[in-house]
Amino acid sequence: MEAPKLELPDFGVGAWAWGDKLFWGYDEKQDQDIRAGFDACVTGGVRLFDTAELYGPGRSEELLGQFLRESGAKDVQVATKFAAFPWKLDRQDVVKACKGSLERLGTDSIDLYQIHFPSVWKNEVFWDGLGDCFEQGLVKAVGVSNYGSAAVRAISKTLGERGIPLSSNQIQYSLLYRYPELNGMKATCDELGVKILAYSPLALGALTGKWTSESPPKGPRAALAEKLLKDSNWSTLLAAMKDVASQHGDKTTLSQVAIAWTMAKGTIPIPGVRNVRQAEDNLGARRLKLSANELQALDAAAAKVTGFLAPDASPFKSLSQSLDTKQAMYEA
Ligand SMILES: NC(=O)c1ccc[n+]([C@@H]2O[C@H](COP(=O)([O-])OP(=O)(O)OC[C@H]3O[C@@H](n4cnc5c(N)ncnc54)[C@H](OP(=O)(O)O)[C@@H]3O)[C@@H](O)[C@H]2O)c1
Repeated sequence: MEAPKLELPDFGVGAWAWGDKLFWGYDEKQDQDIRAGFDACVTGGVRLFDTAELYGPGRSEELLGQFLRESGAKDVQVATKFAAFPWKLDRQDVVKACKGSLERLGTDSIDLYQIHFPSVWKNEVFWDGLGDCFEQGLVKAVGVSNYGSAAVRAISKTLGERGIPLSSNQIQYSLLYRYPELNGMKATCDELGVKILAYSPLALGALTGKWTSESPPKGPRAALAEKLLKDSNWSTLLAAMKDVASQHGDKTTLSQVAIAWTMAKGTIPIPGVRNVRQAEDNLGARRLKLSANELQALDAAAAKVTGFLAPDASPFKSLSQSLDTKQAMYEA
């Protein structure tokens, strides 16, 4: 008999930027702001934080563990991830990595342990390793990330034979990246009862509406901003979002509309938060219930921003081929 699936809250927060220098320009001087953002999240009722051994690398897990201990926060779920690097080939590699994450987090059990991305080689050994982590009591539930439909079905079956349910697939999903709706990914997860954790629900900050030609983001996001700001359909999408925001009171922001949209689609958003202001803003999305007409208007405006609606246009493309859910074996 299969063990019960993990009950996940309908909203979480992502901790990629907590420690990541390369993409997010982290330095230790930011720790105070990040900590205050974490506290605001917990006070505001956030009960799920997502991290990974790859973030920092390791720093994000360490900070999250430290914040949890120091704050004494209760009933908070921690999701972290195994990095399926090409040089890892054995099921024991997953157990070893899991123990490393436990140590950095300073805990004896991880609530949700996910395979971060498909390996370019063999993936089945990692599924076995994930099952081992579950059976050894190191983790309470297991999931995947950046997996396509075929792979979700395959791992569900393999784990199911051991009585272990696949709880989640963490994928990029936002008003700017709706490929999971087109490639059957979302439908597969809905059919199997696998929860979707929507990563980059703000499209790395773009959907906050704060990027302008006068104040573009720095670093790797600059190219994405440049491309977007040249696209007239992008301003139409922002106008549609502003229109929806205005229907929900003066204080409603575009970030809240973007996050509420992912929730209305039945996914669990895990927006990144770097300070108190962002935490309070993003948490406000939970009170926003978008009407069918509003969803339709947002869908229609988003569908026109086509330059981003495909894996080869994903801002993550350059990071690694293996992050591309379009790989043959993992295609829906
Ligand atoms: N599984 C995977 O492969 C994968 C990949 C990516 C992300 N993720 C997960 O998903 C989480 C979230 O995704 P993400 O961090 O890539 O992108 P995101 O949530 O779309 O954007 C987060 C960034 O937007 C800015 N921001 C957030 N809230 C804001 C607000 N209210 N007002 C203004 N700016 C705001 C912040 O950056 P600035 O302040 O610098 O603008 C923040 O770091 C990650 O932390 C990680 O846990 C997973």
